[in-house]
Amino acid sequence: MSRSQFITKTGVIAATVGSAVGLGNIWRFPYEAGVHGGGAFLIIYIACVFLIGLPVMLSEFVIGRSTHRNGVGAFAMLAPRSPMKITAYMGILASMMILSFYSVVAGWIMEYFYESLMALFAGDDAGHYAERFNQFVANPWRPAMWTVIFLLVNFMVLRRGIERGIERASNILMPILFAILLVFCANSLMMPKAAQGATFLFKPDFGQITPSVVIGAMGQAFFTLSLGLTGMLTYASYFSDGTRLVGNSVTIAVLDTLVALMAGLIIFPAVFTYGMQPEAGPKLVFEVLPSIFAQMPGGKAWSLAFFLLLFFASLTSTISMSEISIAFFVEEHKMSRNKATALNTGIVTVFGVLCALSFGVLADFKLFGMTLFNLFDYASSNILLPCGGIMLSLFAGWAIDRKILWQQLTNDGRLSARLVPYIRFAMRFIAPAAIFIVLVAGLL
Ligand code: PHE
Repeated sequence: MSRSQFITKTGVIAATVGSAVGLGNIWRFPYEAGVHGGGAFLIIYIACVFLIGLPVMLSEFVIGRSTHRNGVGAFAMLAPRSPMKITAYMGILASMMILSFYSVVAGWIMEYFYESLMALFAGDDAGHYAERFNQFVANPWRPAMWTVIFLLVNFMVLRRGIERGIERASNILMPILFAILLVFCANSLMMPKAAQGATFLFKPDFGQITPSVVIGAMGQAFFTLSLGLTGMLTYASYFSDGTRLVGNSVTIAVLDTLVALMAGLIIFPAVFTYGMQPEAGPKLVFEVLPSIFAQMPGGKAWSLAFFLLLFFASLTSTISMSEISIAFFVEEHKMSRNKATALNTGIVTVFGVLCALSFGVLADFKLFGMTLFNLFDYASSNILLPCGGIMLSLFAGWAIDRKILWQQLTNDGRLSARLVPYIRFAMRFIAPAAIFIVLVAGLL
């Protein structure tokens, strides 16, 4: 079977950065940082991105590009009888859990786009916006409707095989998003309590570093870089021999972190200026954003552009999540692409709707003390992805032939091999040990 490949360098970057940059940066990062005390969280998060995230990403790249297979197929090919395959099945499970609650939040974005269009945000005060959001998410059908609409859009893109088109479009749209975020940053930094917001985000209070902060920060690093669930592995299976794995991993991590930092610099000055609570959780940015738009000259146009671009950023992320199970169904179960896409969308629609109702009708339905939305969010990022990360890095560091690792990281000797021993050491020891320690400390 001939397999498609990313032809151009920008295609690779667009797809992988498109996967990484999304609601994780703009919605989840501020909410997690807010819940976990700001600066204390940020410093651990950045350490996790570079010490754990980079080695795990390179592990996924190496496994994916050396086999040109989906996760399950890649493990089967490299280590036929090894139980490590379970990593790839866990990844499929995690991808569906994430897609379920992620689509709910993407649906909220669509609602906010619609409300901006209808000029429903004008002239209220901050408290009022918060209340409006709470009413909206508690509605028995509206958030569920948007979730389904979002999943249908995702389905059409995947089914018609136009994800490359979307990625090419995002080559243009992502820089625009970046530019708009800069404008919003400048705007927020001129707010009366900007300094307080920036201090909250950047000044670490080491006394506040608890196991739950560390586990939250590590989970956020995995989530935002799309790691631990064989998503980057699947994308790397479409890389060509010329793709530079090490250079790309650094580009992705740096760009992704910059977007998250900008989101923090947009949200926290506003949180303090409008007297809101940084620890509001998943609702945080939705309660804060309308106040920001309302006070900006030309706020309506800004908010429309913002939500539209965020919608595209979400779509390039959900495309990559969906691709994990679609590639698996197609290659391992010989399903047609259409059928595989329909199966993925069907399963996720059921759980997505249940997650959408978690703030209203199903608010009291709790498992392990959490609503379904919170459980999927917590269990995937903080448990499944890190566990996947341990296995992927151990596998790349120990199980894969040393020569293959070297070939992959240096493009068969065409690139410098200076960093290879360090990368291998990080894959074998640093990343798995660090993840393990955080998991044990956080979960006990
Ligand atoms: N990294 C994406 C974001 O930050 C979310 C994602 C997670 C995408 C897992 C793919 C796989 O929005």
